[in-house]
Amino acid sequence: MKYFLDSAKIDEIREAYDTFGIDGVTTNPNHIMNSGKPFYTVISQLASFVKEKGIEGWEKFPISVEINPHLDNAEEMTEMGKKISAMCPNFVIKIPCTEAGIAAARQLEMCNVRTNLTLVFSPSQAIIAAKNGSLFVSPFIGWKENSGEDCVKYIHDIAKIYKNYGYRTEIICAAVRTGKQFVDCAVAGADIVTAGLQVFKDSFYHPFTDYGLAKFQAAWDNTVTE
Ligand code: E4P
Repeated sequence: MKYFLDSAKIDEIREAYDTFGIDGVTTNPNHIMNSGKPFYTVISQLASFVKEKGIEGWEKFPISVEINPHLDNAEEMTEMGKKISAMCPNFVIKIPCTEAGIAAARQLEMCNVRTNLTLVFSPSQAIIAAKNGSLFVSPFIGWKENSGEDCVKYIHDIAKIYKNYGYRTEIICAAVRTGKQFVDCAVAGADIVTAGLQVFKDSFYHPFTDYGLAKFQAAWDNTVTE
């Protein structure tokens, strides 16, 4: 399972890449706003980052960039998607799973602009993303689980449907909040999880690791080395 960082903060992306080798990045208008910088400044920085690291191309390190969420017409969505895509070969255009969004994603994929259908909350939405050839589909986990839904079956069903029909769209479990959800997504057959930096850090942490380390340090200190 691949790990994407859900952030538009370049220092976080750098840390996550250098420390634990994330496989890609997802952004959204919220993350861009939280970066405190203008939209086009942030995405230009992302484009420079992949150049600096020698990981140009969506195949090596996909970065999902969402179009203006006010657009509700497929032509305008497609136009903005093409404009963003032309800025960097890593950019995958994130589009909401609405009727206009689905049409725009279809048009963009036909022009070899890769897409990520987002704000997906049901397997039937995930089917349409795959039928139209989107590179990624983003079913949201955290939002559903916050309201009491269990997402293991939800992700499992999408993975099963994709397998049944040989759909090549990759499943990005989005809005992942806990290490347990990472494991649930992996068990259910997700291709990718995307989460914030702290969620990754928390998922690696275990108090027994610290306990064991202290124990072994004490043993080391009481051992003659030569
Ligand atoms: C995923 O691609 C989204 O950017 C993200 O997970 C949205 O949810 P959140 O901001 O509530 O985490």
